[in-house]
Amino acid sequence: MNGEDAPRLVETIPDMRAASLEARTGGRRLGFVPTLGFLHEGHLSLVDRARERCDRVAISIFVNPAQFAPDEDYEAYPRDLQRDLSLADDRGVDIVFAPDREEMYPEPPQAWVVPGSLGDRLDGASRPDHFRGVLTVVAKLFNVVRPDLAVFGRKDFQQSVLVRRMARDLNVPVEIELAPIVREEDGLAVSSRNQYLDDGERRRARAVPESLREVREAYREGERSPAALGRRGRRVLEEAGAEVDYVEVVTPDTLETPPEPAPPESVCALAARIGDTRLIDNARLAGPTTL
Ligand code: PAF
Repeated sequence: MNGEDAPRLVETIPDMRAASLEARTGGRRLGFVPTLGFLHEGHLSLVDRARERCDRVAISIFVNPAQFAPDEDYEAYPRDLQRDLSLADDRGVDIVFAPDREEMYPEPPQAWVVPGSLGDRLDGASRPDHFRGVLTVVAKLFNVVRPDLAVFGRKDFQQSVLVRRMARDLNVPVEIELAPIVREEDGLAVSSRNQYLDDGERRRARAVPESLREVREAYREGERSPAALGRRGRRVLEEAGAEVDYVEVVTPDTLETPPEPAPPESVCALAARIGDTRLIDNARLAGPTTL
């Protein structure tokens, strides 16, 4: 750590509320990046964005049990607070809110933030209750941290759509900014779960960005059918031996299949398993991308 301005580690809700009040004194703006921890360049790019736009930056590190199904990797999810604090320090984070499970859920919640039909499609179809857990913890974090701006990554495409919609529907006084996907050199989106991949799986995982490139290429060549575009992407994944959950072209905001011809701002979103690791990714059909 760099010493004198190391981030303040806050572990309780009252302390976080006090730290937030102090950070926002005199009209200063507080930016916020919620995370599950085990920080990587994707998270740190969100921190950079919050720092550009705000006077103070807080992050949260909390592996939220409510968004993991019983058969998912809640226990195995990587955790390393000291490493995270050091990375946060290097990027100039002011406050790290790292509550434990008891602090956030002293008893099983009775009240939840439940997404509507936007939460039933794509990831929501194979991960029932996942987005209920995400929206509930994000709402709780907003209520505790009270940020002016919160930055989310576009990699979690459906999550970003749902969080924006929740903030609007519930009149949460926070601006939500979505930041671009950060990728490895070969195009794989940076994710904490990439570390589950062994060498062979890591090589096969290149098919994930490759399938999105294929969809964009097909679009560039004139294919406008959402279903046909999805099939082109699916084929690349299947050829790499991935178990495809979905490859779908959708309208951002509604997550519905767009009418044909699919407009360029439609998003191709996918989820696929390489070995035991479930990876997600997405890209617009045309226009700017980090692919
Ligand atoms: O995207 C994540 O890391 C999590 O879903 C979030 C937003 C921190 C909620 O637990």
